[in-house]
Amino acid sequence: MERPKILVTGAAGYIGTHTAVELIGAGYGVVIVDDLSNSDESAVDGVRQITGRDVAFIRADCNDMEALARVFEQNEFSGVIHFAASKAVGESVEEPLKYYRNNVGSFVNVLELMKRHGVPNMVFSSSATVYGQPDVLPATEATPRKPATSPYGNTKQVCEDILRDSVAAYPGLNGISLRYFNPIGAHPSALIGELPKGVPNNLVPFITQTAAGIREELSVFGDDYNTEDGTALRDYIDVVDLAKAHVVAVGRMIDGGMKERYEVFNIGTGKPVSVLELVNTFERVNGVKVPYKIVGRRAGDVESVWADTTLANTELGWQAEKTLEETLRTAWNWEKHIRGL
Ligand code: UFG
Repeated sequence: MERPKILVTGAAGYIGTHTAVELIGAGYGVVIVDDLSNSDESAVDGVRQITGRDVAFIRADCNDMEALARVFEQNEFSGVIHFAASKAVGESVEEPLKYYRNNVGSFVNVLELMKRHGVPNMVFSSSATVYGQPDVLPATEATPRKPATSPYGNTKQVCEDILRDSVAAYPGLNGISLRYFNPIGAHPSALIGELPKGVPNNLVPFITQTAAGIREELSVFGDDYNTEDGTALRDYIDVVDLAKAHVVAVGRMIDGGMKERYEVFNIGTGKPVSVLELVNTFERVNGVKVPYKIVGRRAGDVESVWADTTLANTELGWQAEKTLEETLRTAWNWEKHIRGL
């Protein structure tokens, strides 16, 4: 029997590569489309090395309707996982049109082609950013979304709405939005991981680069939050655990296990961790120092956000498995691998 084939857009990127590996491990066929605007083809080679399969890769921008149409014409897909998007919050404020084009325009293209070719299942990469600073924590899927504080955040809300409305309008289409909390870590093989271009915006890549001596010191953005140690709380989810959530979501759609035709799930650990706790744990498990200084708060940051994962646990039968310690080891192993340390 032919294995169901999944189109994974943006799968040369951080979460996409890990998801491609898990999909292949679960028996799916995978076709990767990525424009390599924020990634490198070597990441696809990492997927091939881990899985031992010659994974199909097409270099194309999802805004290029002709190129994308060819991919749909040449393959029969059971579903699409759409990662392709730009993700720098600060840049999105400077260049909103780039974000609306890359994140919203490309999503509409993919849905349009799914409709045209009768591809029934879409898993969309959403984000905990849709919650802003929730009034009540942990955030459940029913927690009201807050007005977005950046164009990037707004694209996640708009794409969720586009998917919901499209599912409502087109009987052949099912959708799942996965709201990721803070993905961190790397594959245990250290063959794939996060490859930020330039100075990292996110905490863990900044920590690993500081530990590797590429950055002088980490700036901890604010120690005057209303938390135990004064630094902000987040829910850090291992990227392989997160990748597995996609496999479960796709399986639920293909096997007909959905309760509604459009569903939303939080994907996190359910455990809040402060910035300093994360730095200290990283130092302890890896036996390396991370010099840091406390600086002012970063504009746009929320104080605390973490997930209520009950729905994903009970409905998807998925839960985070890796400990923070294990995950931070994989993050450091990956940094050492790419730096040849
Ligand atoms: N932080 C530092 N120093 C750094 C980088 C981050 O102290 O150099 C802190 C941040 O202030 C925050 C925490 O570490 O408290 C996590 O920061 P990240 O940038 O790693 O993650 P965010 O929670 O800010 O970002 C996440 C997603 C984004 C999303 C954003 C919206 O990565 O995609 O939430 O809140 F847009």
